[in-house]
Amino acid sequence: MGSWSGARSGQSPSPRPRPPREVVQRGDFRIVSTRSTSLVLDGKVAMITGASSGIGAAAARLFAREGAAVVLTARRDERLRALVEEIGEAGGRALAVAADITSASDVERVVRAGVDRFGRLDCAFNNAGFATAGTELHETAQDVYEQTMDVNVRGVWNCLRFQIPEMLRNGGGAIVNTSSVAGQRATGASAAYVAAKHAVLGLTRAAAAEYGQRGIRVNALVVGSTRTEMMDQVVRDVPRLERQFEEETLQKRMADPTEVAQAAVWLCGDRSSFVTGAAMPVDGGTTAA
Ligand SMILES: NC(=O)c1ccc[n+]([C@@H]2O[C@H](COP(=O)([O-])OP(=O)(O)OC[C@H]3O[C@@H](n4cnc5c(N)ncnc54)[C@H](OP(=O)(O)O)[C@@H]3O)[C@@H](O)[C@H]2O)c1
Repeated sequence: MGSWSGARSGQSPSPRPRPPREVVQRGDFRIVSTRSTSLVLDGKVAMITGASSGIGAAAARLFAREGAAVVLTARRDERLRALVEEIGEAGGRALAVAADITSASDVERVVRAGVDRFGRLDCAFNNAGFATAGTELHETAQDVYEQTMDVNVRGVWNCLRFQIPEMLRNGGGAIVNTSSVAGQRATGASAAYVAAKHAVLGLTRAAAAEYGQRGIRVNALVVGSTRTEMMDQVVRDVPRLERQFEEETLQKRMADPTEVAQAAVWLCGDRSSFVTGAAMPVDGGTTAA
């Protein structure tokens, strides 16, 4: 191991450059890790929905820090513009395009604006969502059902329909859709939300299967309780859920939005090249218990 082949006797081979290594002793194990200085999303163009707050805003900052040019969308234009300015000041590249994710023509406009500005689309974090809690199924207003399905399911559908052709043109890409623990079980969120997040996993798996041989990977995050505006609203409506959600995790706490965004970065980057169709828990162990 470690010997040089092809070095003639009498000649000392010039040292081959090696990546920096870090050796850590942990009990019986000696962990040798290669420290890479390269950015996970260097040179990529990424679209992020629901970027005006919470997990999406955290992702916008993180994707940009990892080298991606980011196309940010949500309805609250002011928030998006402030984020674009912040990312620009930190040396990143970002574009804000206000849009309603439930409108196919709006989503088409966002994808087009991103491609016009940055030349192509390599990855997408389809993260916009809407949730309610505290009302039983038979008492849930029809418009709440419509909005929940529209934002969470139709929103992801609209994104996939316009992002995939751009990625096929490039020879591939990576898409991450935001599902939830509610995509796998009834959590206490509204029945409509539970159904919608199950559907996000279905869309993810179907798309992963259809495009697996054409270079597009499609994965979903099974997100656990995270401190965002959505969670603030849910615990305002049903205060007992705050304690319940924390207790359900193995770590006995909620996530910071950046902890969720980190998983999206990895799934959008080339280091997850053999991961597709996955429902990746980022839930502090909730679905393991
Ligand atoms: N927080 C949690 O505990 C938790 C747990 C599991 C899953 N999730 C999921 O995580 C994702 C992000 O949510 P979050 O927790 O970060 O909550 P958040 O801060 O409330 O973010 C929701 C985002 O969705 C956008 N959005 C909602 N309706 C939209 C529409 N019609 N058109 C365009 N954008 C729309 C909002 O932007 P505008 O209002 O500006 O349009 C906002 O940026 C959602 O899919 C959510 O279901 C969250």
